[in-house]
Amino acid sequence: MKVLVTGGAGFIGSHTVVALYEAGFEPIIVDDFSNSDPQIIEGITAIIGKKPTVYQENCHSMDVLKSIFEKEQIEGVIHFAAFKAVGESMQKPLEYYDNNLGSLIVLLKCMLECGVKNLIFSSSCTVYGEPDALPVTEQTPVKPANSVYGNTQQIGEEILSDTVRSLEHQSLKVLSLRYFNPVGAHPSALIGELPRGVPNNLVPFMTQAAAGIRGALTIFGDDYPTPDGTCIRDYIHVMDLAEAHVAGFRYLMSHESPAIYDVVNVGTGSGVSVLELLQSFERINGLPVPYKIGPRREGDVVAVYADASKAEKMLCWKALRSIEDGLRDAWNWQKNTSKPE
Ligand code: WQD
Repeated sequence: MKVLVTGGAGFIGSHTVVALYEAGFEPIIVDDFSNSDPQIIEGITAIIGKKPTVYQENCHSMDVLKSIFEKEQIEGVIHFAAFKAVGESMQKPLEYYDNNLGSLIVLLKCMLECGVKNLIFSSSCTVYGEPDALPVTEQTPVKPANSVYGNTQQIGEEILSDTVRSLEHQSLKVLSLRYFNPVGAHPSALIGELPRGVPNNLVPFMTQAAAGIRGALTIFGDDYPTPDGTCIRDYIHVMDLAEAHVAGFRYLMSHESPAIYDVVNVGTGSGVSVLELLQSFERINGLPVPYKIGPRREGDVVAVYADASKAEKMLCWKALRSIEDGLRDAWNWQKNTSKPE
C-alpha cells in the first residue's frame, strides 16, 4: 500500500518513511531538498535495505503532484513539506504563507481530483501558544499564533476542517497531529536531524556544542516561573513520533465513516526543563555541554506539554522511548555526522 510522504527527506519525514516501511507500507517520497539533504535518502536505504522511490519535486505544482498520483497508486498522504523556522518566518511572511498554505491547498485539490482520501497533516503544539493550564488536551483553546510559522499551522488546520466539512458527498479523512518537541535520531545513527547553519532547536545545538563544532550553548533565560527558571517542553523521541504517524494512518484506513477531521496531540505527557535536559544529556553521554545563560528568546512560551491520552485511546499509540533514549541517539547521530570525510 503506497503512502505519499511529502518532505520525506526531512527530520520527521525520513524517520516516518522508515516506520512506514517497517509497518509494511510502501512510502513514496516527494521532496525538493530545499530544506533537507539527499544523504538522508542513502541513510534510509541502508536502514530499510532498498532505495525508496523519490520524486525530487516541490509540492506547490498541481501538474507535478497529479503526475505522481497518476503514476503511483497512492492510498494516502502524510504531509510534512513546509518551512518551519519560527524566527525566519517573521522575516519572510509571504514566503511562509505561500509555501506552507499554497502547497497544502494544491495537495488537497489534487487528492480530491484523484480520489485519494486519507491525509495526515503535520501540525504543532505551537497552536496552543502559552497555555493557561497544563497538560494541554486537544480541547485546550488555540491561542493567536505568536509567529507566522505557527499561524500557517493554525490556518492549515482550519483549511482542512472546512474542506472536510464541505464535502458531504465526497469522503476525505484527515488527522492533524500536533507535535511537541521531536528529538533524537534512528538508533542506527544513519539518519537524524540535519539543521542548516546555526541550529534553532535546543538538542541539535546541544550536540554540536558537546562535539565542539559550535560555541557554548546559550540557555535563553533562567528567570522563568518554573522550578529551575528554565522553560519546560515535552521532548518526544522522533521514532515514537514517526510511529504515531503509522498509527494515525492505520486509524484513517480502518475508519468506517467517509469523512473525518480530528486533531491529536503527539507527545510523551511529561514536561522537562532546559537545564534538566542538559543534565540528562551530560549524564547519559558522559561528557559536558559547555553553556552560558543568556537573555530570554522572544516568542518562547514558559511551559507546554501534552495530555497524550487521546492518542492512546484513539490510535492505540503511546510514546515508548525515554528522554534518555532520545539524547543518546541524538549524540550517536552527532558523532556519526561529525566524522571526518
Ligand atoms: C526548546 C527550549 C528554548 C535553543 C519547536 C519548534 C516548533 C514545534 C515545537 C514542531 C526553549 C530553549 C533553544 C537554544 C535554548 N515543533 N533553547 N537555547 O521553541 O519549543 O519549538 O518545537 O512543529 O515548530 O520550533 O523548540 O528547541 O527551539 O526550544 O535555551 O540554543 O530550548 O528557549 O525553551 P521550541 P526549541
